[in-house]
Amino acid sequence: MAIRKVGVIGAGLMGHGIAQVAAQGGCEVLVCEAQQGFLDKGLERIDKSLAKLAEKAKEKGQTFDAAAVRARIRGTLSKADLADCDLVVEAIVEDLDVKKALFAELGKIVKKDGIFASNTSSFPIAEMATASGRADRFVGLHFFNPVQLMKLVEVVKTDKTNEDVVAQARAFGEACGKSPITCKDTPGFVVNRLLVPYMAEAMKLAERGDASIPDIDVAMKLGCGYPMGPFELTDYVGLDTTLFILQGWVKRYPNDPAFQIPKLLEAKVKEGKLGRKTGQGFYTWQGDKRV
Ligand SMILES: NC(=O)c1ccc[n+]([C@@H]2O[C@H](COP(=O)([O-])OP(=O)(O)OC[C@H]3O[C@@H](n4cnc5c(N)ncnc54)[C@H](O)[C@@H]3O)[C@@H](O)[C@H]2O)c1
Repeated sequence: MAIRKVGVIGAGLMGHGIAQVAAQGGCEVLVCEAQQGFLDKGLERIDKSLAKLAEKAKEKGQTFDAAAVRARIRGTLSKADLADCDLVVEAIVEDLDVKKALFAELGKIVKKDGIFASNTSSFPIAEMATASGRADRFVGLHFFNPVQLMKLVEVVKTDKTNEDVVAQARAFGEACGKSPITCKDTPGFVVNRLLVPYMAEAMKLAERGDASIPDIDVAMKLGCGYPMGPFELTDYVGLDTTLFILQGWVKRYPNDPAFQIPKLLEAKVKEGKLGRKTGQGFYTWQGDKRV
């Protein structure tokens, strides 16, 4: 079965991007939101992004049919409209109980051979898969922010995921213009499992006074060729998000030394310094620019 009709639940930062790339890949897309205002905002973001792509294509003398892509996307406030979707991708708030309740409801609505996917960054896919009542047709589809630009999607399989479902999820990722990788359902999958402990280790280095924050960032940029240092990156991701992920892991795996919460991170979050989005984190920001 090829994936032609896709439901995306949540039209926030990630959901609107997933809906857009799926439509660019030729799928018919239904975006489902909890409230009209959020749905309108998500569709507006898609319109802006498509207009930008059309403008860029024009500059290069290429064509990009933004109207055709947009015509494949519809919004809804009713989950019942997702009944005949081949794939439903969840991108709602990062709360495991809310996600489990959503999948339990979807399990009763969506056709039996429909595939379910979660875009969660930090929760076990298996728990949502069990709640959905169709663990064999459930994967993680972890896209990266901004979805329109980032080329990776992690396809996460549990012990129960059918191999054919993994293959279809990978094919969907490719249709969205991404390079899929496949991994098991372990904390942080591949990217965050390596990245978050690295960011935390940089904070511990600074906490001990081994090097300054700007020097650690310069070191990793020039020494490793990374586009951002660990502190710039944490400011970009959000200090609250980083802390939330670490807290979840520490709770679940208290004996794993890779998962520790730096005091510096806790203190900054307490002060409301959450990174770029609040204008203050490890650095001071004005919009996208470091001051
Ligand atoms: N932000 C990132 O960089 C990033 C990266 C990868 C994965 N993720 C994951 O993607 C998911 C979404 O994150 P986000 O940053 O897009 O969040 P967001 O807050 O921008 O968007 C979430 C949207 O979901 C909607 N929503 C909440 N409950 C709903 C429900 N029951 N039905 C329909 N809509 C509902 C909200 O109205 C909101 O618009 C999270 O699981 C997050 O961990 C985020």
